[in-house]
Amino acid sequence: MLITFEGIDGSGKSTQARALASHLAALGREAVLTREPGGSDGAEDIRKLLVSGEVGRWSPETEILLFYAARRDHLERLISPSLAAGKFVICDRFADSTRVYQGAVRADLRAMVDQLHKLMIGIEPDLTVILDADPSEALNRGLARGSGEDRFEDMGLAFQMRLRQGFLDLAKEFPDRCVVVAAQGTQENVAARILDAIQDRLP
Ligand code: TYD
Repeated sequence: MLITFEGIDGSGKSTQARALASHLAALGREAVLTREPGGSDGAEDIRKLLVSGEVGRWSPETEILLFYAARRDHLERLISPSLAAGKFVICDRFADSTRVYQGAVRADLRAMVDQLHKLMIGIEPDLTVILDADPSEALNRGLARGSGEDRFEDMGLAFQMRLRQGFLDLAKEFPDRCVVVAAQGTQENVAARILDAIQDRLP
């Protein structure tokens, strides 16, 4: 089963993806925790090109190609083999991020994303947790990390506000696999809220 976490920058996805992986492991279920862009050696190399440097370093079209090159490598080397071995794969971001960031907010290129997805990836998550965070709080949190990976955070608050709306629209477009969970509160609160929301969808 492929479970993805999505949301704006600084919404706490990584922490919650890790918490779910530990929860599943404690139940004796093997869960592979991974992330995008990245998750395989080649994709991690491509990640560096995407998340650092000037805002205008890549056009939205080039960005889509780089994200999809990374995603294809990740799929070939980690996601597909893990799913074939019957493991849970928990991924911090996946194609929905491209649909929202490059397909709807940075540019209006959703058709291009969908075509590439069909050609190169072909699978969708079984379950997607969308963490819904306040854009200004999340942006401050993201920037405060000082990760040196702020190329998208540097696009500003208005950009993050539009991303939030983009993810909410996406949840309406794919209601069968998406659950929206409020990201406010302590990590433990949010983790409990997520388990509550997904419990009856887990096999
Ligand atoms: P991530 O490491 O998840 O950042 P954060 O922890 O701040 O949420 O992702 C890196 C950045 O890449 C993030 O700003 C979102 C962006 N991104 C896209 O624009 N398109 C994509 O397809 C993906 C996977 C990420």
